[in-house]
Amino acid sequence: MENEPAPPVGTATPPRKPLIGPAYRAFIWDLLRRKNARNYLEVGVRDGGTIVNATCPTIGVDPNFAFRISPIGKKRALHLFQMTSDEFFRDYDPKAILGAPVDFAFLDGLHQFEYLLRDFINTERCCNRNSVILLDDCLPVNIEMTERTHTRATRVDVEIKDFWTGDVWKVVSILRKYRPDLRITPVDVQPTGSILVSNLNPDSSVLYDRYFEILDEFANLELTEAAFDAYWTLNAPVAAQTILNGFDFSLFLRA
Ligand SMILES: C[S@@+](CC[C@H](N)C(=O)[O-])C[C@H]1O[C@@H](n2cnc3c(N)ncnc32)[C@H](O)[C@@H]1O
Repeated sequence: MENEPAPPVGTATPPRKPLIGPAYRAFIWDLLRRKNARNYLEVGVRDGGTIVNATCPTIGVDPNFAFRISPIGKKRALHLFQMTSDEFFRDYDPKAILGAPVDFAFLDGLHQFEYLLRDFINTERCCNRNSVILLDDCLPVNIEMTERTHTRATRVDVEIKDFWTGDVWKVVSILRKYRPDLRITPVDVQPTGSILVSNLNPDSSVLYDRYFEILDEFANLELTEAAFDAYWTLNAPVAAQTILNGFDFSLFLRA
């Protein structure tokens, strides 16, 4: 298009990090099975491509569902909320809907860090210690895709210009700094990694109490190449299969 901004001529293609694990959906379906999850919450559902294969009672939240097939699959119960996650958590209680704490949550809504941070805070409150929360898109494979607004026209690595992680990577750094009590396990799923968060504490109010301080601290942070490398070193992904093979911590500890 004539008037669309384009990358400056001669801009070097940004380096890419390798992610060689399975597709994130396959990992989620396997984990739901291995954990024998009693229920599932997905924030950001779009066409239901992931939610469709969850077989336990499920809640899906998205302001714009775009289903092309029925998302019900083999589930006994599916509760859909066509609204933002902020509205959902303000107006509904997932524990009341499911009749139990949330066992497994996949947070894949708006890719701006303050949204994911709120989704995490709101979700953890509805979990128990042994639930797991999976954060999507927290291992951006290049710096370009961490832009806060997805702008395909200015991306240099055009082959992956449709991938957009936004700046949700900041939530991992926030959790590492403010919630050292959590277990944080980066997973090598494609296309842009996931972060498995466990050892949850639904009574923790640290993130809620310090929410605005955290926003001020992280809002203007941008990844330089050195910071990007350091983030990947700190969050070196674990093979999905390793996690699936050794997945026991949520099965045996009762809250
Ligand atoms: C990457 S897609 C989700 C893909 C889906 N999880 C899957 O695995 O197929 C992101 C979705 O987040 C939704 N979304 C955007 N803003 C949101 C918000 N504030 N709360 C919840 N979902 C939101 C979008 O409508 C979009 O469907």
